[in-house]
Amino acid sequence: MSLFSIRNLNKHFGGLAVTDHVSFSLEKGNRVALIGPNGAGKTTLVNLVTGHIKPDSGEVFLDNQNITSLSPSARVKAGLVRSFQVTRLFSEMTPEEHVALAILQRRGRSGHIFAHYRAMPEVMAELRDILGLLNLDALARIPVSDIAYGQQRLLEIALVMALRPKVLLLDEPAAGLPSTDTVLIEKALAQLPPDLAVLMIEHDMDFVFRFAQRVIVLAAGAVIFDGTPQAVAADARVREAYLGSYAA
Ligand SMILES: Nc1ncnc2c1ncn2[C@@H]1O[C@H](COP(=O)(O)OP(=O)(O)O)[C@@H](O)[C@H]1O
Ligand SMILES: [Mg+2]
Repeated sequence: MSLFSIRNLNKHFGGLAVTDHVSFSLEKGNRVALIGPNGAGKTTLVNLVTGHIKPDSGEVFLDNQNITSLSPSARVKAGLVRSFQVTRLFSEMTPEEHVALAILQRRGRSGHIFAHYRAMPEVMAELRDILGLLNLDALARIPVSDIAYGQQRLLEIALVMALRPKVLLLDEPAAGLPSTDTVLIEKALAQLPPDLAVLMIEHDMDFVFRFAQRVIVLAAGAVIFDGTPQAVAADARVREAYLGSYAA
């Protein structure tokens, strides 16, 4: 059985099928891009998978367990994590405090956060490792409000790493960044554990082609293509729905 699978997932908003019989699986180590035009239902699909929206029908499996009725936090605990959004960072907290909070949350000790984490050698060692890997060590004790946007997005990835997911969902990790910072995000993604399965929503097709071994295309809620990056640009339906001039 696959590490992660979505089976025949459906969701309507009013009369509109936003998620239309969507099925696919991810294996350990997969790097998959989810693309599609605006309004195709990509974010809704992520919200269904994380449990923030309830599907009308269909199921989600992680590690042989049906997680369709689990709460969002229970899914995180089970190893299904979506990237944090910059807007969810606390502006007065430092990167070190954010990562410590995530580590303690994973270890089930978030109640003790500020008083004690600096006295916990394992937590300090792990957070130094994570911040070092993402080149955030120099910013560890500076409030998030005083660090650049690109670095804030790297911090999102640091938080995800601290949760040690099995499956990671990234909704446009480089959105709003200049291309110099996109390179930083790409480097950070290259540091993710090789076993982790990653599904990334991304509009920048150059980034998609560098990152993904497999591309899933969503249009009007339905999967219209699931295959290699080489094949996606040649697919007539995809070209019509999405790629347009890029394919030419
Ligand atoms: N809470 C909601 N209520 C009603 N319609 C919604 C809601 N969320 C999204 N939609 C609609 O569902 C469709 C898919 O949206 P979305 O999942 O955000 O697409 P994408 O992320 O691919 O741009 C759009 O037509 C959008 O207007
Ligand atoms: Mg979206």
